[in-house]
Amino acid sequence: MTTNNSCITQTNLDGVLPLINRGKVRDIYQVNNETLLFVATDRISAYDVIMNNPIPEKGILLTKLSEFWFHFLSADVKNHLIAIGDEIFNHLPFVLYDDLKYRNQLKNRSMLIKKCKLIPLEVIVRGFLTGSAWNEYKKFGTVHGTTMPQGLKESQEFDKPIFTPSTKAEQGKHDENITKEEAIQILNGDVKLIDDLEKLAIKLYSKCKEYSKTKGIIIADTKFEFGIDEITKELILVDEVLTPDSSRFWSLENYQVGKSQDSFDKQFLRDWLTTNKLNGAEDVDIPEDIIEKTRAKYEEAYESLTY
Ligand SMILES: Nc1ncnc2c1ncn2[C@@H]1O[C@H](COP(=O)(O)OP(=O)(O)O)[C@@H](O)[C@H]1O
Ligand SMILES: [Mg+2]
Repeated sequence: MTTNNSCITQTNLDGVLPLINRGKVRDIYQVNNETLLFVATDRISAYDVIMNNPIPEKGILLTKLSEFWFHFLSADVKNHLIAIGDEIFNHLPFVLYDDLKYRNQLKNRSMLIKKCKLIPLEVIVRGFLTGSAWNEYKKFGTVHGTTMPQGLKESQEFDKPIFTPSTKAEQGKHDENITKEEAIQILNGDVKLIDDLEKLAIKLYSKCKEYSKTKGIIIADTKFEFGIDEITKELILVDEVLTPDSSRFWSLENYQVGKSQDSFDKQFLRDWLTTNKLNGAEDVDIPEDIIEKTRAKYEEAYESLTY
C-alpha cells in the first residue's frame, strides 16, 4: 500500500451533494433518492468517543477491507455496494472528479451504496468470550442475559458462535447489550426476522472466521448491520463489514486462553485510554506513538486478510 500523509478528518464538498450524516467515522452524502455516498474518514473512535486526531489512511484501509468481505460473501448475502474505487466518479457530479480539492477527499475511501431501510439493531456475533460479554459473565454468569456454562475462561472460544444483539443507539448515546427477547420487541414481535438474522449473521461470521484463521487472524467477534429490501423482504448486508472498527481481531499465533489478547484492532488504543483513565473522556489527543502503532495494526490486519 502506498503511503502518503494526507489525513481526512472531515470532508467538505461545499454543498455539491447534501451531507445527510456525519457518523463517528463516515461522512454520508445523498446522491439521489436511492443512493448514498459513504466516505470513510480517518477519524477514530473508542468507547463511542471520537478522538481529536486521526489515524492516517485508516478510512482507505477500512473501505478496501469492507470491499474484500462484500466480495467474499457475495454468494451468501446481498449487499449495499453499488460502486467503489474510481468507478464512483461515474455516478457523481463531474466537479467532484474534476476538481482535485474534492477528488482527493473522496478517492479510495468512498463507496456508493444503495440507501436501505435499516434494521435497528447491531447484529453482533461472538465466537470468543471477551469484552463486555466477559465482564457480564464474570459478574453474573450470563452473556446478554443468557446463562452460560460455568467455568469459562477469558478469551475462550464458545462451542458455537452466539448471536448477541445490541441496540443501535442514536448519535451520542451508548449501545446497550440486550437479550434476544428484547431484540424481538424492537422488531415489533417479528420472531421470524430475528431468527433469519441470527442464522445469517452466524453463517457469515463463521465463514469469515474460518478463512481468517488460515491468514493467522482470529476474529473474536463482529458487528453486522442489515437493511431490508422493502419489496422482496430480503436481508441486505450494509455498513462496513469485518473491519478492525467493527470486530475484534487477534493474532492466532499469540492466542492464549485465560487472559486478554493483544490485538490487531483498536484494543491498542482502548488499552492506552484505560491505562490513562481516559476511557469515555471527551477531547482526547492520542500521542504520536499510539497513532503510529494503531495505524500499523490497521495496515497489518488489512494485508494479512487480503493477500
Ligand atoms: N445502506 C445503508 N443505508 C442507509 N444507512 C446506512 C447504510 N449502511 C450504513 N448506514 C448507516 O450509516 C452510518 C455509518 O456511519 P458511521 O460513521 O459508521 O456511523 P456510526 O457512528 O453510527 O457507526 C451508520 O449509522 C449506519 O447505520
Ligand atoms: Mg459505524
